[in-house]
Amino acid sequence: MSGAPRYAAAMPLTDDDLALYERARGASANAYAPYSRFPVGAALLTDGGRVFTGANVENASFGLTCCAERTAIFTAVSAGHSDLAAIAVHAEAESAPPCGACRQVMAEFAPQLRVIWRRDGQLVASSLGDLLPDGFHL
Ligand code: THU
Repeated sequence: MSGAPRYAAAMPLTDDDLALYERARGASANAYAPYSRFPVGAALLTDGGRVFTGANVENASFGLTCCAERTAIFTAVSAGHSDLAAIAVHAEAESAPPCGACRQVMAEFAPQLRVIWRRDGQLVASSLGDLLPDGFHL
C-alpha cells in the first residue's frame, strides 16, 4: 500500500448545497427500484439557477437501469440546459458516491462540477476533478 490518500478532497458545505441535497432526497421518492430496493435521487443545479431532478429507473433486464444522476443530467441537457454547476445525490445509505459511469457523464458537461454526496455518514462536497482524475476525453 502506498501512503496516498484514499479519499477525494472535500470542500466546505454551503446552504445552497444543503438545499440542493434536500431536493435530491425528495427526488428519491420517485425512484423505480423494485430489484435493488435502493432508491436514489439526484438534483442538478445549472449556472442559470434551474434545478433538474432525477431518480434511478431500473429494468427487469438489469443492465438497462439508469442511475439517478444520469436521469437528472439527461433531463437537463435535453431541455437545453447543459451549463451544470452542481449535483447532489441522495440514498439512504452511509455512503452513496456517484458511480463511475455517472462521473464520466458529468465530466462531459462540467469537468469541475461540484458534487454533493454522502460519505461515511456525512455529507461532503467534492470537485468532479477529484472524483474522476484522467476521465476519458476526445
Ligand atoms: N445507482 C444510482 O442511481 N446512482 C449511482 O451513482 C449508483 C447506483 C442506482 C442504480 C441501481 O438502480 C441502484 O442504485 C443499485 O445499484
